[in-house]
Amino acid sequence: MGVQINPSILSADFVNLERELARIATADAVHVDVMDNHFVPNLTLGLPVVRRIAEVSPLPLDVHLMIEDADRWAPAYAEAGAASVTFHAEATQAPVRLARELRSGGVRAAVAVRPATPVEPLYDLLGDLDMVLVMTVDPGFGGQAFIEGMLAKVRRLRAAVTASGATVDIQVDGGVSASTIAAIARAGANVFVAGSAVYGDPDPSGAIARLRLLGDAPYEV
Ligand code: DX5
Ligand code: ZN
Repeated sequence: MGVQINPSILSADFVNLERELARIATADAVHVDVMDNHFVPNLTLGLPVVRRIAEVSPLPLDVHLMIEDADRWAPAYAEAGAASVTFHAEATQAPVRLARELRSGGVRAAVAVRPATPVEPLYDLLGDLDMVLVMTVDPGFGGQAFIEGMLAKVRRLRAAVTASGATVDIQVDGGVSASTIAAIARAGANVFVAGSAVYGDPDPSGAIARLRLLGDAPYEV
């Protein structure tokens, strides 16, 4: 599994999304943050917009649902054209049933954990998941500072994934930048979301290339 850089359009210009997608053409996927103003104190976009982004995006869609009642709403995001759908452990009653439903539609299934949510309960579910997202900020906003304590969580998760023998990506989202990405990669993550570090740079494709280089560090677990 190689390094993947998925820029978050949360930091893009929402009035010019098609143009903003063209600026990150060298990325691996576009990270789309869906927020419902209940699960997190912010509101972004929903199904009709995701559907339209999927139609025009040259990159696969990595949809991160920060919404309540994921069991009810996540499948519709798969149908809307997402390549991968991430729902939160805190917002589902039936993570395995939901993951299986998503995968049966040909979509990758991922579970996210907030910084204060332990990742250990997911260890026995890894065989049903394509990716686990370790949030490294409290979800809701871009531009927050990386929480250093999450490196230990990533390290434990990488060890559990290796021990399970399952092929599961470890994604990190929140405060990923040129100054934090190498340490996160060494802890065991291989899929990196970056919002402000990519769109806050005058040269987004240069920023992607730099992150890719720095994120290509071997695991130290
Ligand atoms: C935050 C979102 C992130 C956000 C990251 O809740 O899930 O995807 O865009 O932004 P940065 O990279 O600026 O921390
Ligand atoms: Zn996100």
